This record gives sequence, C-alpha cells and structure tokens, in this order.
Amino acid sequence: MTKFAVIGTGKTGGKVVEILDDEQVVGPFNSSQKPTANALNQADAAILFVPGAAVEDLVEPLITSGIPAAWGTTGYEWPEDLDKRLRIQGIKWLHAANFSLGMSIVRRCLKVIGQSSPVLTDPSFHIHEIHHIHKQDAPSGTALSWQEWLGREAEISSERKGDVKGIHRLEVKTETESIRLEHQAHDRKIFAQGAVWAAEQLTKPEIEPGFHDFSTIFDYIMQQS
Ligand SMILES: NC(=O)c1ccc[n+]([C@@H]2O[C@H](COP(=O)([O-])OP(=O)(O)OC[C@H]3O[C@@H](n4cnc5c(N)ncnc54)[C@H](OP(=O)(O)O)[C@@H]3O)[C@@H](O)[C@H]2O)c1
Repeated sequence: MTKFAVIGTGKTGGKVVEILDDEQVVGPFNSSQKPTANALNQADAAILFVPGAAVEDLVEPLITSGIPAAWGTTGYEWPEDLDKRLRIQGIKWLHAANFSLGMSIVRRCLKVIGQSSPVLTDPSFHIHEIHHIHKQDAPSGTALSWQEWLGREAEISSERKGDVKGIHRLEVKTETESIRLEHQAHDRKIFAQGAVWAAEQLTKPEIEPGFHDFSTIFDYIMQQS
C-alpha cells in the first residue's frame, strides 16, 4: 500500500484526502501543521496542492526527505536549476497545471487531429469553453492549451453560466463532415485522482530523478502499456 504525504488541505488537497484510505495518508499538512523532513519520510511520495507563495517553505523539507513529489501548484516560477539539483540528489518530482487524466487523453487526441487534418478539404477549427459565472479570465488557460496541442489556427469562444465546472469542446468542420471532441469536468476530484496516479508513477524505479512535466510521465507510461 503506497502512503502519500498530503500537503495542502484546501479545495483540491481536501479531495486527495477524501479519495485515499485513512491509512494511506501521512499528515495531512497545511499552513498550521507544516511538514518536517522526518514526518515526510513516513510516506512513499508527497502530493502538494498549495499556493505559489507556500512553495519556498516546502522545498527544503521535501528535498531533505528525498521522497518523490507531485506538485499541483500553479502560478509559481520554478527555479531553472531545479531539475539539475534534483538529478544530482537522485530525487523525482513532477508538476502539472492540470492533473486531470481525461484531459491528458484529450491532449493526445488533439495532437492526432491536428496532425491528420491536412487530409481534410478546407477544415475550420472552433474551440468553445464554458465555465461558471465567477471565472474571471477568458478564454480559459485550458482552451489556449487545446489550441497549442492541436497545432492549428482555431477560433476560440467563451461562455459563462451557472456553476459549470469546465466544458471544452473542439469542432472541426468541412463542407461535408464534422468531428467533435468534448471534455467535461464534473468534480474537482479529477485533479486529486490524477495527482495520486502521478505520485504513484514516481515511486516506480524506471522513472529517472529530475523535475518532470506531468505530460512527459503520462506519455511515457502510455507507451509502456
Ligand atoms: N494542477 C492541478 O490540476 C490543479 C488543480 C486545482 C488547483 N491547482 C492549484 O493548486 C493550488 C492550491 O489550490 P486550492 O484551490 O486547493 O487552494 P486552497 O483551497 O487555497 O488550499 C491551499 C492549501 O495550502 C495550504 N498552505 C498554504 N500555505 C502553506 C504552507 N506554507 N505549508 C503548508 N500548507 C500550506 C493551506 O493551508 P490552510 O488550510 O491552513 O490555509 C490550504 O490547505 C493552487 O496553485 C491552484 O491553482 C492545481
């Protein structure tokens, strides 16, 4: 049974605690109960959903413990020498802006659609995203990632309604046919599930030390299966 140090017990870290069995959780830790290297050593890997401002507090105890770590923190500029430092110390970390496993599958589908679409006659590409009314930015960061993964010029549109957790849709259209691809998030648990999966992969001996992007690890594991 893999044990996970859960760091951050807010909206997303709380979901990690929810989906794990009690005996799998080391901690959990937050701003009033900060982890020490000794405490972290009780775990096989760490999962972090903390704000960017908390990262510097946590780097040293994690490096001292040497356990693998899956970071969900966004909006933090990681030091350029981090990968080298981790490789020298034989430590495995990864980070993801979006831990959804479904979204990782979609990323691969978008790449295939983008690369194959030159066989179509005058295709148009349209990405539409829908989110709850409190979301401030538009288009969503994920819609921009979809365009990047697709690798084609696409019209992007946004819609805000109710408490929609996130819908992204691609339509490829020609005069004679259409292709639609849609991803819908139902629950923040998708990030927790992906982070647990990712942290588990880091405990495998074939994953090299260093600072990895989640997509690299995801694609590596898919190639092995
Ligand atoms: N990669 C993904 O898939 C993904 C998905 C969702 C969110 N995120 C990102 O994850 C981060 C957290 O998001 P959230 O919505 O879960 O935030 P949140 O609800 O505000 O929770 C943040 C948690 O971090 C804890 N924390 C703050 N400073 C700390 C410190 N110095 N040491 C230990 N714990 C500390 C807080 O402790 P207290 O409870 O004591 O305040 C709280 O439990 C954000 O950067 C967000 O953008 C990423």
